Amino acid sequence: MTSLKHDYTPFSSTYAQRPDYAPGVVDGLVRIAGAGPDDRVCDIGAGSGHLTVPLLDSGLIVDAVEPNAAMREIGMGRTAGFPRVAWHEGFGESTGRAAGVYRLVTFGSSFDRTERAAALQEADRILRPGGYFACLWNHRDLNDPLQAQIEALIHRQVPDYDYGPRRQDPSPVIRASGLFEEPLALQQRVVHPVDAESWCDAWSSHMTLGTQAGDRFGDVLDGIRTLVRAHAGGVVEVPYTTRLWIARARSDRGDRGDRGGRG
Ligand SMILES: C[S@@+](CC[C@H](N)C(=O)[O-])C[C@H]1O[C@@H](n2cnc3c(N)ncnc32)[C@H](O)[C@@H]1O
Repeated sequence: MTSLKHDYTPFSSTYAQRPDYAPGVVDGLVRIAGAGPDDRVCDIGAGSGHLTVPLLDSGLIVDAVEPNAAMREIGMGRTAGFPRVAWHEGFGESTGRAAGVYRLVTFGSSFDRTERAAALQEADRILRPGGYFACLWNHRDLNDPLQAQIEALIHRQVPDYDYGPRRQDPSPVIRASGLFEEPLALQQRVVHPVDAESWCDAWSSHMTLGTQAGDRFGDVLDGIRTLVRAHAGGVVEVPYTTRLWIARARSDRGDRGDRGGRG
């Protein structure tokens, strides 16, 4: 099934200001997948290109798939200088890409946006035999003093606030698909010193919060700005952990030969 659970259009303009993934995790992803310069990657839910750019920097050939036109436009602009990227309209559940082509299929902060079982089936379909599925997110360190205050503010304004699958270990869903070997997890903490006002602006791209806060979103954003201004000068140090899960397509499945000619 194809889905666009949430429309990213209202969140797209500030999305490019969100923090990069920890370089050690992106390096680990490429290394574990054994991806070399002529290998193809399909980066799904590629959005404004946060993961697409480091994958291209690693020398890979990237097909970037993104359902939302506003996000796609930002991503295309950001990767315009790279000759080895092509952008496509598509979904995690139905990418429109050919079967059996990719060494690696990635979901940068987008696997939680999909019907995950269907997205895993589609990833398996487009992967080469022995190819890898990977998903990753940047998790803000909620124990940091400023971040803890921000969390408390959010929960006061939106009492049932829930991060949902974006902060959950996806291993059970990957295992349940029966399509992949046991997932490996990799993480790296990074502290991003960021311009305080830009960081506050970037909160307006937080779809999980924006959707649940509804008409209280403006108040939440104002509250965050007040806290940040009281706590920090012009620069705020924001700790994140990039968390990656990566799993190899199983080679022992008997039906491979029937799935898009990969057998
Ligand atoms: C949080 S953004 C992540 C963008 C980028 N990959 C990154 O690493 O920052 C999530 C993206 O998933 C896209 N998306 C939403 N539903 C999707 C689906 N069913 N399949 C693929 N992508 C989807 C959104 O349009 C958005 O661009």
